[in-house]
Amino acid sequence: MGKVVFNMSMSLDGFVAGPNDEVDRLFGWYFSGDTELTFPGTEMVFKLSRPSADLLREAAGTIGAIVTGRRTFDLAGAWGGHPPLGVPHFVLTHRAPQEWVKPGSPFTFVTDGIAGAVTQAKQIAGEKDVAVSSASTLQQCLQAGLVDELDIDLVPILLGAGVRLFDHLGTEPVELEQTRVIEGQGVTHLRFRVVK
Ligand SMILES: NC(=O)c1ccc[n+]([C@@H]2O[C@H](COP(=O)([O-])OP(=O)(O)OC[C@H]3O[C@@H](n4cnc5c(N)ncnc54)[C@H](OP(=O)(O)O)[C@@H]3O)[C@@H](O)[C@H]2O)c1
Repeated sequence: MGKVVFNMSMSLDGFVAGPNDEVDRLFGWYFSGDTELTFPGTEMVFKLSRPSADLLREAAGTIGAIVTGRRTFDLAGAWGGHPPLGVPHFVLTHRAPQEWVKPGSPFTFVTDGIAGAVTQAKQIAGEKDVAVSSASTLQQCLQAGLVDELDIDLVPILLGAGVRLFDHLGTEPVELEQTRVIEGQGVTHLRFRVVK
């Protein structure tokens, strides 16, 4: 069984998007290097520094399913039906969008809570990891003790306002062990193990 890992880009002051859900300033590092990278199923060409490209390649090989939230799904326009890394996505929502509930859809809509979403994603991912990739789903995973590792792509900007990553966590401290630091171009890739 693989791990449950989290990955998002975050500003130095802890935001994963600006006040209008904009992510352009946080995603600059995907296009600021000279190493081109593409993924199966999408025409998007990333231009990364070598260390960031190596990390993304590694992630593409180890992630078998993704858990996210309905806002991310809607804001991304369902990724035009070609979600990141081409792996099955489990989308937490109160109401499934019927146009994507069909045979062959890369999306499974989960209405019974975070534990159900992670369990289903783990079954599909098998030996590979499950990636959690939205703020609200990470918060729920941390509260439920479901996440093993945090990968934060730390971007050197203070956004000042927006969608805060580490909100609604309750009052109990969550202990972390830093296990990796890699410098990219316009980003520092941080990895922490959640101490359980
Ligand atoms: N920096 C990055 O790397 C990055 C990457 C992707 C996205 N983003 C940004 O992240 C933001 C979105 O994240 P978010 O945390 O605000 O929203 P989110 O997790 O994507 O979606 C939240 C929504 O998911 C549904 N949901 C969540 N938990 C649920 C549960 N337990 N049961 C049923 N439904 C549940 C609810 O939608 P319903 O009630 O409507 O069903 C809820 O309003 C956006 O601003 C986006 O631009 C940043």
